[in-house]
Formats: sequence, C-alpha cells, structure tokens
Amino acid sequence: MEDLEDKVAVVTGAASGIGQALCVELARAGSTIVAADVDAAGLDTTLAAVHRVGSRAVAVRTDVRRADDMTQLADRVDAEFGGTDLLCLNAGVFRGGLLWESPIEDWDWVLSVNVFGIVHGIRAFVPRMIERGTVAHIEITSSMAGLVATGMSGVYTVSKFAAFALAEVLANDLLASGAPIGVSVLCPSAVATRIGESERNRAGVRPDVESATAIETILVDFCGNGLAPEAVAPGIVDAIRRGDFVIPTRDTMGEFVRVRSEALQRKELPPFQMFD
Ligand SMILES: NC(=O)c1ccc[n+]([C@@H]2O[C@H](COP(=O)([O-])OP(=O)(O)OC[C@H]3O[C@@H](n4cnc5c(N)ncnc54)[C@H](O)[C@@H]3O)[C@@H](O)[C@H]2O)c1
Repeated sequence: MEDLEDKVAVVTGAASGIGQALCVELARAGSTIVAADVDAAGLDTTLAAVHRVGSRAVAVRTDVRRADDMTQLADRVDAEFGGTDLLCLNAGVFRGGLLWESPIEDWDWVLSVNVFGIVHGIRAFVPRMIERGTVAHIEITSSMAGLVATGMSGVYTVSKFAAFALAEVLANDLLASGAPIGVSVLCPSAVATRIGESERNRAGVRPDVESATAIETILVDFCGNGLAPEAVAPGIVDAIRRGDFVIPTRDTMGEFVRVRSEALQRKELPPFQMFD
C-alpha cells in the first residue's frame, strides 16, 4: 500500500495510545481517518489531533466485541467515503494473572476484544474490500507477546498468539484468492500507552485477582519506560507502505524469535524471555 494519499483508513482502538498516534501519522500521509473506539472522549481528542494536521476525519463509537457495531462501521465507511483502503484492527486490552487464578470473566473480556474484535472486523470488512477490487491493506495489532510467551500474562498472551495467527492465515488466504489486499501484523515491544489501565473501559463484572493486579502494576511501569506512541507510529506507517508482514517497534524482535525457535527445534520449552 505504497500510496496513502487520499485513501480511507479505518482504525479501531483509535481513542488512545498506538491507535491515536497511528491516526495522526496516517493523516500526515494524506489519508482520511475513520476513528473507532468505545471511548467517546478519547475519540474527540483524536479527531482534534487529526484536524490539526489538516485531514478529514470522523469518529464512530464502536465496540469491537459486537459484530453489529463492526458491520455498522463498515456500512458507514461505504456510505460516506465509498469504501476502506486501509483497515487497522488495533483495539486491545490487557489482563494478566496466573492461569489457574484467571476467572472466566477475564477470558471472556480479553478474548472478546483482542480476538473476536479482529474476527468481527475481518468478517465485516474483507468481503467488501474483495468485492471492490482495489489495492488495500489490513494491519492487525498483535504484540511481542504474540511471538514469545511471557509470565503471569496467560490470558493476554493467548489472545495475542491468536491475533498473530489470524493475521498469518488472513495473509495466506488473501494471497491464494488473488485479491490485491496485503496484511501486516504489528508486534510492539513496550510502548508508553494506557494499556496497563485497560480496565478503565471494562463494563460489567471486574473480578479482584491478586496475581492480576500485581502484574498490571508491573505493566504500568514497563509501558511507562517504553517508546512514545508518536515515536513508533512513523515506522509502522513506513512498514505498511512497504508491505512488511511483521512490524516490530524495536530491532530486538529477531533475537527473541531466534531464541524461541532454536529451543523448539531442540524440542525444549523455550526459555522465559522478558521482551523490552
Ligand atoms: N503499549 C504496549 O506496550 C503494547 C505492546 C504490545 C501490543 N500492544 C497492543 O497495542 C494495541 C493498542 O493498545 P495501546 O497500547 O495503545 O493501549 P491503550 O489502552 O492506550 O489503547 C487501547 C484502545 O483500545 C480501546 N478499546 C478497548 N476495548 C475496546 C472495545 N471493546 N472496542 C473498541 N475499542 C476498545 C480503548 O478504549 C483504547 O482507546 C492493543 O492491541 C495492545 O494489545 C500494546
């Protein structure tokens, strides 16, 4: 997707962090932005930032857990802008803790946002993008936690391995179909966002689990020491232009993957690696 000028980019999780910075960077590249999120106030901030760059933008309150919301989002883009050129399925939440202490409510919440949010996005948008027949691209946000399994974060790690698998299968299926639609999977290392405070947008039951609270406290520190979202967004947009399949935010990714893959080839449990 070399040319982003006058293209229509739809970004989920656009009200904060990586999604918000991506909206601004794509606007700088000349795209019209459709910003989707559950957080209406955050969406206003994103719209204001995109307008400052001088691009067109609309905000659509969307809960990616709901298939109907994603269909309505796709309908709105088609009606208002004629279709989607770049789809960024980026919304995500974190919940950790020891696997045997993780309540089903946590599994429901994290998988419904991080996995079903992507599934609903693919089902709502991809058939229309194929039918339209123009060059297009889909970015799916996984994580370094989708490439190496970290400790005390089982629910999140499972969701991010699934996000990676969704991107890989989607890329292969689109290639086989002959549709001119590329796919990238974003695997960020630590980025200074509010992912450690994901529960701010959680409706319904919020179980109190000691090991989950402990790892969230660590995550807030970990992300606080990460790169700024505005610092990683230009590299993400460059990688989308080039059509890279995997998009890391640090060049240490290859070493983490090598260590894991060599252990697997020896039929060993991969060593615990805390990514940076
Ligand atoms: N920050 C990091 O260090 C890091 C590392 C690896 C991967 N990621 C991934 O990056 C993506 C963006 O996260 P971030 O770090 O910018 O965090 P963030 O919390 O700043 O942004 C996440 C956004 O997703 C939105 N969201 C949550 N539930 C939603 C729902 N049901 N429907 C629609 N939107 C919803 C939130 O409102 C928020 O605006 C996530 O998928 C996350 O897992 C982040």
